[in-house]
Formats: sequence, structure tokens, C-alpha cells
Amino acid sequence: MNILVTGSSGFIGFHTVKKLSKNKNFKIFGIDNQNNYYDVKLKRDREEILKKIKNYSFTKLDITNFSKLNTFFKKNKIKIVIHLAAQAGVRDSVTNPNKYFTNNIIGFFNIIQVSNLYKIKHLLFASTSSVYGSQNKFPLKENVDINKPLSFYAASKISNETIAYSYSNIFQLPCTCLRFFTVYGPYGRPDMALYKFASLIKTRKILKLYNKGNHIRDFTYVDDVVNYIYELVKKPYKHKIPYNVFNIGSNRPETLKNFLKIIEDNLKMKAKITYLDIQKGDIYKTHADNLKINKYIKKRFNTPLKKGIKNFIDWFIEYHK
Ligand SMILES: NC(=O)c1ccc[n+]([C@@H]2O[C@H](COP(=O)([O-])OP(=O)(O)OC[C@H]3O[C@@H](n4cnc5c(N)ncnc54)[C@H](O)[C@@H]3O)[C@@H](O)[C@H]2O)c1
Repeated sequence: MNILVTGSSGFIGFHTVKKLSKNKNFKIFGIDNQNNYYDVKLKRDREEILKKIKNYSFTKLDITNFSKLNTFFKKNKIKIVIHLAAQAGVRDSVTNPNKYFTNNIIGFFNIIQVSNLYKIKHLLFASTSSVYGSQNKFPLKENVDINKPLSFYAASKISNETIAYSYSNIFQLPCTCLRFFTVYGPYGRPDMALYKFASLIKTRKILKLYNKGNHIRDFTYVDDVVNYIYELVKKPYKHKIPYNVFNIGSNRPETLKNFLKIIEDNLKMKAKITYLDIQKGDIYKTHADNLKINKYIKKRFNTPLKKGIKNFIDWFIEYHK
């Protein structure tokens, strides 16, 4: 079974390839443009590790180039697509919306077009908890209205969801949407809280804490995320419109200030903090209802936050030695 993982040099893509490649019936293909949104060395280091895997191969490719994507699909007889390549991050979408339009909307359109052209068996794609915007009923269920995005990043992902639904409806293309809730873990993203906080504490620099650290996030350990992906790969929704959407979250929300405290405990160092107001586009709280996914796959993955952060800090110290 030939499986394509887009964004394979990225954080979740890297872990997804590692997990899927353990199944020797799978032949995994990775593509990524290795852009410089954050340190390219980290992306290359991830691919260096993946290079050693026998049933895996990497191609540097930009998903905004339809013709190259088309040739790639034809040549490699792709049967399943796990689409993770995107311009991630809420805050950057305030100042650079064009990157989100190009990579997340045009890029996604190319992926779904080519998936439909070659009649792939299952397209799984990354969405985000940001699509929920500001809600007042928690935990968040998949069926609530998502028509009021607070950022262009969220808007770009909502557009992916609606495009995918229409392709499922018109062409019966099996599509599964994964709404990820703040994913963290080793080889994580340097633009996200855990990596940023750890770096600032370690270098004794000032850490900016928005909304006094009262933001609440449903933190999800990356191994749990890839375990869910692994379980879903061969389970497209059997329905006349084969479209499904799942929250991928822990259902254990935590305030950012407590999250920071666990990081400090692991590093055995204290943060130097400046308290700032809430930022534009930010969501106050996320809290995933994960009953739907657990029922669908009849399994549950839920690494405790303390263990997950410890794993990250152990990796972080080793990686930056
Ligand atoms: N990490 C999270 O907490 C989180 C939360 C919600 C949603 N997501 C979504 O999950 C997916 C993976 O996120 P991640 O955290 O691994 O981010 P990441 O930035 O580490 O990975 C994305 C990868 O896609 C690549 N990419 C971007 N544009 C591309 C293009 N045009 N062509 C080819 N490759 C391209 C990047 O180089 C990068 O390596 C993204 O779609 C993101 O929006 C992540």
C-alpha cells in the first residue's frame, strides 16, 4: 500500500512517517518544500533520521506546483494521502495572510484535485482546533457551527474542510478531517509555546506571557496523534458521502501558567516573565471532546501531560547539547 505523507519534514509529519513505516506492508513517500518558516536545520535533521527507514523515500516538492504533484502521483501509484503540509501558526496569519492563502488554500486544492484524479482510497488531512473560534460550550464537539473563525489561519482550514466535503459529495472521495488540538512532543515546532518557553528559560531570557497565562489549551502528545492517524488510515468512512471529521485532542485542558510550571520543574529553572494582554486572533480556551474518535476506532490514546513534557525536555536538552 503506497502512502503519501505531505509535510514529512515537519513536526507531525516526521512522527507520522516513523509510526506508519513500522508496518512493512506500507510503502511510505514523504514530500516537503522545507521552507524557512522556522529553522530549516530541524526539518533536515528530521529527514536525516527518516532516511534510514527502508520502506520510506523523500522528495523535495512544493504542493503549490500542480504539474509536479501530478507527475509524482502518477509515478508512485499513491493510494492513501495524509496531508499535513501547510503554513501553520495563528499569529503569523495576522501579518502574512498571503502565505496561508497559497499553501493552505491553493496547496490543499492541488492535493484534493490530484487525489481525485488518481482515485485514491483515502485522503486524511490536518485541520485545527482554531476552527472552533470563540465558543462557550465545552468540551467542543465536532458538530458545532464553525462559521466564525478568529484568524485567517482558521479560515484557511475551514475552507479545506468545506472543499473536502464537496469532493466527498460529488466524487465520493473518502476524506477524513483531523482537527488537531495543540500538539507537542520531541522534535516539536520552535514557534510553539513548549519549545519557545524551554529555550527562553534555558537562555535566561524574558518570556512574554499573554493573557497572564490564563489561556487554556487541550495539549495533545504527538505519539497519541500518530497512533490515531495509524488507526484511521485504513478506516475511511463508509457512507454515501464518505466524509468524516474528528477532534484529535486529549480532553484534559490545562492553563498555560500550569503548563509553564511543569516546564520549569523539568528544567529545574525559573522563567523570567513579562505579562502581556491577549493577542489578536487568539482563542481563550480549547477543550476537545474526543468521544467520537475513541468510539470510531474503539481505542483511546492519552499520554499524561507531565510525562509528555518530560519526554520533550529530555529530547530538548540532548538535541541542544
Ligand atoms: N502542531 C500543532 O499543534 C497543530 C495544531 C493544529 C493543526 N496543525 C496542522 O497540522 C499540520 C502539521 O503541523 P506541524 O505542527 O507538523 O507543522 P510543521 O510546520 O512542522 O509542518 C508542516 C510542514 O509542511 C511543509 N510545507 C509547508 N508548505 C508547503 C508546501 N507548499 N509544499 C510542501 N511542503 C510544505 C513545511 O516545510 C513543514 O515541514 C499542519 O497542517 C498544521 O496546520 C498542527
